[in-house]
This record gives sequence, C-alpha cells and structure tokens, in this order.
Amino acid sequence: MKVTVVGAGNVGATCADVLAYREVANEIVLVDIKEGLAEGKSLDIWQKAPIDLYDARTIGATNDYSKSANSDVVVITSGLPRKPGMSRDDLIGTNAGIVKSVTENIIKYSPNAIIIVVSNPLDVMTYQAHLTSKLPRTKVFGMAGILDTARYRAFLAEALNVSPKDIQAMLLGGHGDTMVPLPRYTTVAGIPVTELIDKDKLNAILERTKVGGGELVKLMGTSAWYAPGSAAAQMVEAIVKDQRRVFPVCIRLDGEYGIKDCYLGVPVILGKNGIERVIELDLNSEERALMESSRKAVREVMDVLENLG
Ligand code: NAI
Ligand code: 2OP
Repeated sequence: MKVTVVGAGNVGATCADVLAYREVANEIVLVDIKEGLAEGKSLDIWQKAPIDLYDARTIGATNDYSKSANSDVVVITSGLPRKPGMSRDDLIGTNAGIVKSVTENIIKYSPNAIIIVVSNPLDVMTYQAHLTSKLPRTKVFGMAGILDTARYRAFLAEALNVSPKDIQAMLLGGHGDTMVPLPRYTTVAGIPVTELIDKDKLNAILERTKVGGGELVKLMGTSAWYAPGSAAAQMVEAIVKDQRRVFPVCIRLDGEYGIKDCYLGVPVILGKNGIERVIELDLNSEERALMESSRKAVREVMDVLENLG
C-alpha cells in the first residue's frame, strides 16, 4: 500500500509519522512546496524506524508529485493554519488555491486515489478538492469529526475521571463553532453519559468542544497537530485495512438528513472503497435545528468559494 501526505508541516508530518509507526502502509510519501522540508522530515521519520521498530519506508519530495504516483490514499494538509484572532473561514482564499493545485497534481499521478482533506476551512476545502478532482463523494471527503469527538471524549474522560478509551461519542455538522455534538449518542462503556454527569457540567463540555480548536490556537499561536495528524492517520488505516470503522466524516450530503449539496460531518462506514455507507440518525427537533444552523454556516462559506470562481 502507498499513502501520500501533502504538506509536511505540523499536521502532515505528524500524520506521516503515525502512519509509519503503525505500519499502515509500506510506502509513505511526504510532499511539500518548501524546499527540503518533506525530504528532511521523511528522513527523520525513517531514522526513527530502528528505534521504534517499524519498516514502513518514508520518502520526501519538494513539489515532485511523480514520487506520489499510484498512491492508494492521499491526505491533503497543505495550507495556512489559523493564527490567533482568525477563524477557519479566514483561510479560504489562500487555501482554496493551494488545495486546487495540489489536487490537480494528485489526480495527474494517482487517478484512483482516495483523497482525505484536512486543510481549513475543512468542509469547503473538501468541496474544492471535489470540484478539482471530480471524484465521487465516496472517494473525496474530509477529516474533522474524529478530532472534534476526540476533544469531547478527552474532556469527558477528565471530568468523569475514567479512561478516554471507554468514551464513545458521535458528532454532526461542520468543522466550526456550529458543530453538533450529540449527548444522546454519548456513552461511557455503554452507559448513557447523561446518567453519569450533571446537565450543567455536560453543557460546559459541549461548549468547550465547539471552540476546542480556538483554545489551542490561543495557547500556541498556531493550530493543533498531534490529535489532527493521528485522526487523519486513523482514517487512512480504516481504508487501507478495510476496517469498516464508523467515524464522523465530512461528506457532501445528497439528501441524507434532509440536506442536499452541502459538505457536513455525519457518521459513515469507512472501508477499502472509501465511504461505504452514510449512516442517517433519527434526530429530534432540537438536533435537527442545530444541524440546520450548521448547514447554513457551511453553505455561506461554500458560496464564498463559488464566488471566488
Ligand atoms: P503548517 O503551516 O505547519 O503546514 C502546512 C504546510 O503546507 C507547510 O509546510 C507549507 O509549506 C505547505 N504548503 C503550502 N502550500 C503548499 C503547496 N502548494 N503544496 C504543498 N505544500 C504546501 O500547518 P498545519 O498546522 O500543518 O496545518 C495545515 C492545515 O490543516 C491548515 O489549513 C490547518 O488549518 C488545517 N487543520 C485542519 C484540522 C482539521 O480538523 N481538519 C486540524 C488542524 C489543522
Ligand atoms: C482545529 O480544530 C484549527 O481546525 C483546527 O484544531
């Protein structure tokens, strides 16, 4: 199996490192526009192999997509990250141009690849990758929900003083402040979370989750990378190993949840063909209203992209 990660910055290099460490693919190519960066980081990851005992080969390339030829999966992380005071949507102009040119190169050398988009604003960059690649929605989709639910699960594990391994959660909507965490679908080893935590505490955690990305930007002056890089690698692993994992993933909705032509996070089954199935939950009226606000927010940014031409 061959996996390419475009963008050898914080998220891309972390993703490549996790892929190598877990031996998800035997060949991992890292591509960046900045001279020497991808070569240097892949060499560093390769030199860690004798210490951490893996044999996945990492190869770097400066803007040379021929090295990525015939990849099975490509992860796009190239683009500017958020700085303090910026929303994900502020990145649209620059990152749309980057995602467009990167996708053209990917498709030229790996026409059958499955593409996972990570660059922000996530939902709309996934749309951009679809517009450029013309791949079906099952083959081009975005990573955000695994990260957002991981933040939610980590906050809950801390509040309940239990292992994060035992917290299961689902989340819908766009990758932004209008994301829709679903307490009704959150359990601790099968026990509904609402039986273990009081309402105010849970609400505070839900609100913290919604601005979880911004919390890290404030602390570090740039956006997060360990959890995002691992989350993207987990999606690659589900595809490469045909695991049929159930994850929240950003996909274009084609009528599910009563929504058409909008990129939003929903639960899906991920396997060797990419998105094997979209799972439609039976939402209550409050959840449906939150999903509609999220749809509106993402649609506005999709319109900005369309107006950029
Ligand atoms: P970074 O600045 O550390 O790395 C980005 C890399 O992209 C840089 O090395 C840069 O040289 C490269 N790059 C820029 N233009 C390029 C091009 N045309 N071709 C190839 N490489 C190019 O940024 P970081 O922290 O890795 O974030 C990357 C993106 O991921 C940002 O847009 C960020 O907002 C987004 N992100 C999304 C998350 C999500 O949940 N979907 C979570 C975290 C970050
Ligand atoms: C995050 O949620 C900024 O999207 C990035 O960390």
